[in-house]
Amino acid sequence: TSLLILNGPNLNLLGTRQPEVYGRTTLADVRAICEAEARDHGMTIAFEQSNHEGALIDLIHAARGTHAGIVLNAGAYTHTSVALMDAISSASVPLVEVHLSNIHAREAFRHRSFIAPVALGQICGFGATGYALAIRALAAHLAHEPG
Ligand code: DQA
Repeated sequence: TSLLILNGPNLNLLGTRQPEVYGRTTLADVRAICEAEARDHGMTIAFEQSNHEGALIDLIHAARGTHAGIVLNAGAYTHTSVALMDAISSASVPLVEVHLSNIHAREAFRHRSFIAPVALGQICGFGATGYALAIRALAAHLAHEPG
């Protein structure tokens, strides 16, 4: 079983970007955490990052039939992108929304998520650990809803 771990805009800068908000963990560290967690559940991952909305949409479309689930940190597109929301609905691959920071404790414009209504659930505020929690949640979901 394979999962797609998908990261949106500016997450390539993780570790150096606003460390007071996002910590010192790099995207390479996040990838290693995801690989270890997936392995614990007998799964593999594809790990992607793009700063481009259309590229993220293409990857979500391509996940259908390729990946059993998606972990998505859509970055700021979370709060703006009807197109990403529609892509998730169209692909109908189970998806868990992740944010490193607690978006509900931040500016009001970060409280709204276009991803949340089409996600199994949302995990935020736990840094890179949130990705591992999301993989665990997908593993449990897939065990109950195979195929
Ligand atoms: C983020 C939260 C978003 O509001 C922000 O635009 C990001 C990162 C997070 O992981 O905490 O780019 O998705």
